[in-house]
Amino acid sequence: MRPPRPNAYRDTWAGAPRAADAGGEVRVAGWVHRRRDHGGLVFIDLRDRTGLLQLVFHPETAPDAHAAARDLRAEDVLSATGTLAARDPANVNPAMPTGEVELDVAAVQQLADADTPPFPLDEERDLDELLRMRHRYLDLRRAPQRDTLILRDRVNQTIRRALAERDFVEVETPILTRSTPEGARDFLVPSRHQPGAFFALPQSPQLFKQLLMVGGLERYFQIARCFRDEDPRADRQPEFTQLDLEMSFVDEEDVIGTTEAVIHAVFEAAEYEMPAPPWPRMPYDDAVGRYGIDRPDTRFGMEIEDLGAALSSSEFKVFSGALASGGVVRGINAGAREVARSELDGLTELAQRFGAKGLVWAFVEEDGGWRSPIAKFLSDEERAGVVTRLGAQSGDLLLIVADVPRTAAIVLGQLRLELAERFDVVADGHHEIHWVVDFPMFERNEAEERWDPLHHPFTAPEGDLDDPGALRSRAYDLVMDGFELGGGSIRIHDLDVQRKVFELIGIGPQEAQERFGFLLDALRYGAPPHGGIALGIDRLVALLAGWRSLREVNIRESIAFPKTATGADPLTGAPAPVDERQLKELGLRAQAPPRTA
Ligand code: AMO
Ligand code: AMP
Repeated sequence: MRPPRPNAYRDTWAGAPRAADAGGEVRVAGWVHRRRDHGGLVFIDLRDRTGLLQLVFHPETAPDAHAAARDLRAEDVLSATGTLAARDPANVNPAMPTGEVELDVAAVQQLADADTPPFPLDEERDLDELLRMRHRYLDLRRAPQRDTLILRDRVNQTIRRALAERDFVEVETPILTRSTPEGARDFLVPSRHQPGAFFALPQSPQLFKQLLMVGGLERYFQIARCFRDEDPRADRQPEFTQLDLEMSFVDEEDVIGTTEAVIHAVFEAAEYEMPAPPWPRMPYDDAVGRYGIDRPDTRFGMEIEDLGAALSSSEFKVFSGALASGGVVRGINAGAREVARSELDGLTELAQRFGAKGLVWAFVEEDGGWRSPIAKFLSDEERAGVVTRLGAQSGDLLLIVADVPRTAAIVLGQLRLELAERFDVVADGHHEIHWVVDFPMFERNEAEERWDPLHHPFTAPEGDLDDPGALRSRAYDLVMDGFELGGGSIRIHDLDVQRKVFELIGIGPQEAQERFGFLLDALRYGAPPHGGIALGIDRLVALLAGWRSLREVNIRESIAFPKTATGADPLTGAPAPVDERQLKELGLRAQAPPRTA
């Protein structure tokens, strides 16, 4: 950092002085990180954003400062002036960048008094998260928390620079708007001017960025706040930030290429080792077939294999029955692992939680036999067929599920992730990034007798609109370490296609006009072919901040003032009840008593 402008408080950052600066007169300001009183000498580690500097107070040479220092306590705020001195070799602290020097304080001024903090700020340890969130301003004084926000700023700056170089224009789109369907519930804001009417907070700037393309902006981006009223998870917040971009007269290659360049620039700026683009692309069917999920963690194998051919005529009814009724039998090879019986029961319960009817486990033995509850129901050939298919060797643990394809995929996909974590199979620092492409356009929703879009309904379909089940979409997702970093698509720019897609997903012409009339109108006035993407900045920063894997990542850490698992803010106490008068103005009446977080 550039030195601060000298003023009454300071002329030097606490983290700046080095051995070569010894002898200099400096003034520093900050917080008391730690204080040690050695009877004679008092030592204070002074902290500012840049780091720590040891201050020494001598009773003989600076009695006033020394007396003042004896009264200082952790987190008090002060400004100190003195002479930088080289430390004796024996006292050099190699763990501290400023560890070769200390400040012999001549004068000190206390600028603020601090109560005892509710948790210690001078040591690394796991603290109660709610307590940290309630006092986030204290939490942010801790180096990892502060550095994550600084990293986030770096990421945003790099994004802005990379996109400016590519002629993108940053445009702000409204926060008070109409519902943008991205698959979540809307946050609503009541209107005072039109009692009974509501704004929706944007789930994404999707429709506005498309309108900007109709408006001729050509290349738009925004570091955009989005709002989705869904239950927060480790990788999901109700209020989060996207790098949102859109381009006109482009195809998939343009958007994917731009995204790769921007994200790669971010990796470089964060000194994060990743392969240079182009990044691999995996068809959706492969992702689901081999990994059971549309955002596969490709850092380890344990791929799902189809065992139907080996088991079709099995006398074990669970298998043959499933196959006969159009289901599948699939399995994974979890490798040679020591797994206790109770753990196997745990895995079975986990499988059931994800919808499985049961789980077959089997250990392959030296002679090709199996240690498994169902060993006796399978013939030698059937066991051999499974072993070959799963590339299994003696000692390997096999896990097998019989079910409809979708359930089998979900269950084995989740077991795979669980086992990888349990057995710690991913090496530290190993990351993989890739695209998932060739998505189906729709999924059948039998209950509602309609098609549901896999992405949002503005995604361009590819294929015959009269055969919705076979349609693909021109969408692409960016996946890192098993997490969806971003997703986008080439859009529909043809009014008739857009209408038809609405119809297929159960939005009739009248409803379409009511909810999306502004988009449909815009498509009448010459919409260019266009496409774009949005990337989750909170997730990206959480990853870069050095968490080992996104599975353990908590994106709350990458947000300055995050919300809890119940979507509340323990710092401000939001959400909170409001005055009866305020409600009345809005034409509202609260029915349920407000729940406390
Ligand atoms: P999508 O809904 O896939 O696409 O969102 C894009 C990316 O935003 C991040 N994200 C979230 N991050 C934190 N908390 C959440 N609740 C949350 N929800 C989403 C993810 C995700 O990949 N308009 C489209 C993009 C487009 O088509 O251009 C959209 O919003 O990293
Ligand atoms: P059951 O015939 O229900 O007693 O099940 C015998 C064994 O097969 C048990 O270990 C079950 O967990 C397992 N099992 C039952 N249904 C399935 C299924 N659909 N897929 C895999 N294993 C199953």
